[in-house]
Amino acid sequence: MEDSSTLRLLSVFLTLELLSLSNGTDSAKLECPIRITPDTMVMQYKSETQNATCTPTSDSVPNVDKIFWQGLQGKGTDNTVWFVDTHKDWNERPVCYANFQGIETCHKTLNFILYKTPDSVRIQHLDNSSSVVENGELQLQCDVINVAPAQNLRIHWYRGNETLKTGPMQMTRCWTDNDTNCNISMIRSPVNVSFTVSITLNRNHSGADFRCEAQLDLGPGGPDPPPNMMSSPLSITVFYKPTINTTKLPKTIPVFRGYPEELVCEADGHPPPTIQWLYSSDKAPHELEGKLTVSEAGLYNCTATNDVDSTVHVVVVILKEDYLPLIAGFVAVTVVAISIVFLFIYSIYYKNTKMRRYSLKNPKLSTHDGNVAHNGWDLPLPMTKLS
Ligand SMILES: *[C@@H]1O[C@H](CO)[C@@H](O)[C@H](O)[C@H]1NC(C)=O
Ligand SMILES: *[C@@H]1O[C@H](CO)[C@@H](O)[C@H](O)[C@H]1NC(C)=O
Ligand SMILES: *[C@@H]1O[C@H](CO)[C@@H](O)[C@H](O)[C@H]1NC(C)=O
Ligand SMILES: *[C@@H]1O[C@H](CO)[C@@H](O)[C@H](O)[C@H]1NC(C)=O
Ligand SMILES: *[C@@H]1O[C@H](CO)[C@@H](O)[C@H](O)[C@H]1NC(C)=O
Ligand SMILES: *[C@@H]1O[C@H](CO)[C@@H](O)[C@H](O)[C@H]1NC(C)=O
Ligand SMILES: *[C@@H]1O[C@H](CO)[C@@H](O)[C@H](O)[C@H]1NC(C)=O
Ligand SMILES: *[C@@H]1O[C@H](CO)[C@@H](O)[C@H](O)[C@H]1NC(C)=O
Ligand SMILES: *[C@@H]1O[C@H](CO)[C@@H](O)[C@H](O)[C@H]1NC(C)=O
Repeated sequence: MEDSSTLRLLSVFLTLELLSLSNGTDSAKLECPIRITPDTMVMQYKSETQNATCTPTSDSVPNVDKIFWQGLQGKGTDNTVWFVDTHKDWNERPVCYANFQGIETCHKTLNFILYKTPDSVRIQHLDNSSSVVENGELQLQCDVINVAPAQNLRIHWYRGNETLKTGPMQMTRCWTDNDTNCNISMIRSPVNVSFTVSITLNRNHSGADFRCEAQLDLGPGGPDPPPNMMSSPLSITVFYKPTINTTKLPKTIPVFRGYPEELVCEADGHPPPTIQWLYSSDKAPHELEGKLTVSEAGLYNCTATNDVDSTVHVVVVILKEDYLPLIAGFVAVTVVAISIVFLFIYSIYYKNTKMRRYSLKNPKLSTHDGNVAHNGWDLPLPMTKLS
């Protein structure tokens, strides 16, 4: 029994030496034969306290001289059990050290995070206005109040229910009651932080609701799903210049003499545009609610104007003769002409039939044979006979 334990001790010793050689001089990088239970502690602010225990790994470990926690502000003790104070242990970086007989001191770090979900998450437009002009830049700011640790924050932006794809996260400001410009990669206690994003909007986004969401990404050992908080929505109106509907108002419009045409000028824009028709003063069209009734050739300009811009659409009205009566007249003349031709043909035919009757009477008289006369009626009449 004694022999085997001595052997085991020797083997552990050798392993440590070898690791030490291959790894260079830093013994901190060795697999230190101690165990921290649990090895990860992700604790919520003001949650129930827990302890972390540091012990030598099983029985295969050489004689321990000393094992203790360090990196605990004012609490560096020989105690192998550490109780976290979830009210204020923001800056603790607990490290367990161990001295073994004949080996250098080695240590392990407890993966510890004390986190606090935000008191609030607010979204605002940097201009403080609730509107933006189309294709203009919209700068939104997301303020996350009283959150820790700020470097684990992930911000998501939403337009309606759709996620906005943004570039790398842009943290613009970090502040506390004491420090107006803190460094979030250094500070682990609760801070206020602001993030901004720049987006361009088009008319389709008018009235869109924007929201930002702060998520604490605490890694493995953290709560699943990660804690997150959504801001209330911010509604943004997009102003855009008028667009005249050219489907309803083509560039060129023919007007038949005597038949006035209605020109409909409709424009889409925000704020809703006002419609104005411009035409030379000698024209006298009738105008009503954006609709212009024209009967004269010329240029008619529809102008749609709103606060953003104005758009002009020029309509060329060309006068056309009304060919309908002409066509009708032509058709009537043709019909009359055809009728006359038919009458003429008929009259000729009628005359000839009469003549044939006369020519048939003669043979009837000469032969005195009713049958011959009957046959004569049945035969197709040879035209030569008639002429
Ligand atoms: C440490 O916590 C564990 C459970 O988390 C518990 O079983 C153990 O009793 C605690 N140790 C001390 C010394 O309170
Ligand atoms: C926006 O409003 C905040 C307070 O509500 C004010 O501090 C800030 O100066 C305003 N910004 C602009 C650009 O008006
Ligand atoms: C967003 O909401 C609209 C209706 O409000 C719905 O049609 C659409 O599928 C939703 N999109 C997502 C990604 O949820
Ligand atoms: C965050 O800002 C609010 C005011 O907006 C302030 O009352 C609070 O003390 C700040 N919190 C921290 C941790 O600085
Ligand atoms: C802010 O300063 C006060 C005293 O000036 C101090 O008590 C407090 O701990 C400080 N807070 C932080 C977060 O540094
Ligand atoms: C914040 O701290 C990190 C780590 O010390 C440092 O690299 C970085 O330059 C600091 N940033 C600022 C803005 O001071
Ligand atoms: C707005 O949406 C319509 C239909 O979804 C699309 O055809 C049009 O191109 C969009 N306009 C802009 C400026 O993106
Ligand atoms: C233009 O008018 C036509 C006909 O009424 C309509 O179908 C179309 O949707 C309109 N286009 C726009 C952009 O409003
Ligand atoms: C209408 O617009 C055309 C082209 O912009 C311009 O030449 C013409 O003078 C305008 N007519 C009126 C009456 O404004």
